Amino acid sequence: MNKLTSLLELQNLTAGYGQTPVLFDVNMIVNQGDMVGLLGRNGVGKTTLLRSIIGLNKLSKGNLIFDNKNITKTPTYKRSRYGIAYIPQGREIIPYLSVLDNLKLGFSAAGKSRKRIPSEIFEFFPMLKEHLSRQGGLLSGGQQQQLAIARGLMCNPKIMLLDEPTEGIQPSIVQEIEDTLRRINQEKGITVIVVEQKIDFVRQLAKKFFIMDKGAIVSQGMTPELTDTLVNRYLTV
Ligand SMILES: Nc1ncnc2c1ncn2[C@@H]1O[C@H](COP(=O)(O)OP(=O)(O)OP(=O)(O)O)[C@@H](O)[C@H]1O
Ligand SMILES: [Mg+2]
Repeated sequence: MNKLTSLLELQNLTAGYGQTPVLFDVNMIVNQGDMVGLLGRNGVGKTTLLRSIIGLNKLSKGNLIFDNKNITKTPTYKRSRYGIAYIPQGREIIPYLSVLDNLKLGFSAAGKSRKRIPSEIFEFFPMLKEHLSRQGGLLSGGQQQQLAIARGLMCNPKIMLLDEPTEGIQPSIVQEIEDTLRRINQEKGITVIVVEQKIDFVRQLAKKFFIMDKGAIVSQGMTPELTDTLVNRYLTV
């Protein structure tokens, strides 16, 4: 596929909770192979945006195009099957299930009945192989995040949506997660949208950035254009 083919398009996406609007006419184009950082202060709507893309929040207006299909009304499980993986904020692994069973949940998201974990999962996350029978809840925060990313990879996604994957994680593991996401993007060609508060993380990892404020995209560009002026205006508290 041509590198500049658009994979995901948000057209005037408008959504909220009940009567409370949160997102206002969000337009966004993400191309095949992009590595995108989505930035914004607390409460501006980043999580709501990712949830709308995977279908956990209903749109009140607008369209969503993914891989040349209009998925605006497509249920979440089908969006997963089409190749959208969502790694939620707070990771949401199942604490009392083993690492292996947590990984296998990734198969059901993809609607596949495969039984064996592909070896490349352990190539990306060698740590998981050593802890397969351990309860997910006994892993460290960083290990749980790696498990959540691995689970997302199990369905062979075309795009991965990650919500603050480094939140509350120690710096050495943050670096590991950065390296892994870079490999997933470069070696597997998977498009990535990562919501982040850490500006340095986005500057090092992402190729493009979008900044949200009050439910709208207020700035976007290539990462070198993410200037301190923008950071001070929209991102520092
Ligand atoms: N389940 C919900 N019900 C009602 N309002 C909600 C719900 N979840 C979020 N909101 C509101 O929607 C707005 C956007 O929240 P959202 O979680 O999308 O922001 P965010 O940018 O991800 O914030 P953070 O950086 O804190 O994760 C906030 O005003 C929040 O209070
Ligand atoms: Mg959030």
